[in-house]
Amino acid sequence: MKIKEFEVETWMTIYENDCEINLTETSMKSLSLKDLQKLVDEDIMDHVMELKQDYGHIVGSPRLKQAILSLYKTGDDSNIAITHGAINANELVMMTLLEPGDHIVSLFPSYQQMYDFPHSLGCDVSLIELDEGKGWLPSIDDFKRVVNEKTKMICLNSPNNPTGTTIKGQLMNDIIDLAKQYNCYILCDEIYRGLGTNTKDILPSFSDQYEKAIVTQSLSKVFSFAGLRLGWIKAEQSVIDLVNLRRDYHIISSGPMNDYLGALVLENKDVILDRNRKICAKNKELLKQWLKKNPLFSCVIPDEGTVCFLHYDLPLKSQEFCERLQKETGVFFVPGKTFGKEYYLRFGLTHEAREVEEGLRRLENWYKRIR
Ligand SMILES: Cc1ncc(COP(=O)(O)O)c(C=O)c1O
Repeated sequence: MKIKEFEVETWMTIYENDCEINLTETSMKSLSLKDLQKLVDEDIMDHVMELKQDYGHIVGSPRLKQAILSLYKTGDDSNIAITHGAINANELVMMTLLEPGDHIVSLFPSYQQMYDFPHSLGCDVSLIELDEGKGWLPSIDDFKRVVNEKTKMICLNSPNNPTGTTIKGQLMNDIIDLAKQYNCYILCDEIYRGLGTNTKDILPSFSDQYEKAIVTQSLSKVFSFAGLRLGWIKAEQSVIDLVNLRRDYHIISSGPMNDYLGALVLENKDVILDRNRKICAKNKELLKQWLKKNPLFSCVIPDEGTVCFLHYDLPLKSQEFCERLQKETGVFFVPGKTFGKEYYLRFGLTHEAREVEEGLRRLENWYKRIR
């Protein structure tokens, strides 16, 4: 099975460990087990040391599944499959449901897995091109132009990586109506869902609105625990049963340690999300102020999500821009090129404000020097 290089992941692998300031990270500043211990009464280390290192609950423990279900309005244990991160969740859904020749619809720019993975399975992929001038949001007419009787799945990522923009409200309803009309699945990667503007204002999940919606999520981004490599799929039971058949070939289980720690993270999600909401809000404000002073840069600053897509008006392609910037200042960005868009940088709203402030200061001095 031939597959294209996953450009953003390749870039991260080469450059991310070699920077002083990471202004592109998608995961909210990560937490440690020490941080988690401060939030809970039980002794985590003691529990972990006692855990027998067998495969654990193959399909995920009831405790973990309950903690996951607290993020949704509908569903029970039978609607959840546990995976090795959201990357494995998306892969498992697509490998389970898609066949060569199936038509799928996806957004561009978006997370490359949502269109190049189905392409590698032999699917016929229609892309809806997003435009900064339209707030990086598609219209329902964009979907109507490409969805047809042959469409098996509409693949979305909301909030989106790299733009941070979110499909909600009327657009969400209209996409669901269209999917119902053509009886197709909606796969929505909701890995950036959960921050919102406050605890009560969490983005609705596609899986609570449509029985053929399949959503994926993980602990990696808004929950600050990418290292646990714990993700999940929420879908109707018939899909979960099929996914679990395939899962046996791919991961078997996630192991008892990750299962236990994952449940603890989610049981304490309110404190974690609150911390991360505040970090994001501060960074959005910093970026807004910086943009006012630097009119060669522009950005649609999203309501949700942990990233946005920063446009610059300088005669330097994004790969060269990022390589030179990192070499000369230590500031790390993912270039728009890895998402198929030139003259953009993916901006992460995820790290401490003082780091972001210093990164922006270095970026400003640098671009004014080389202009
Ligand atoms: C949209 C999206 N989905 C999935 C992933 C992979 O996440 P995980 O760490 O849960 O495998 C990423 C990571 O950047 C992402 O941006």
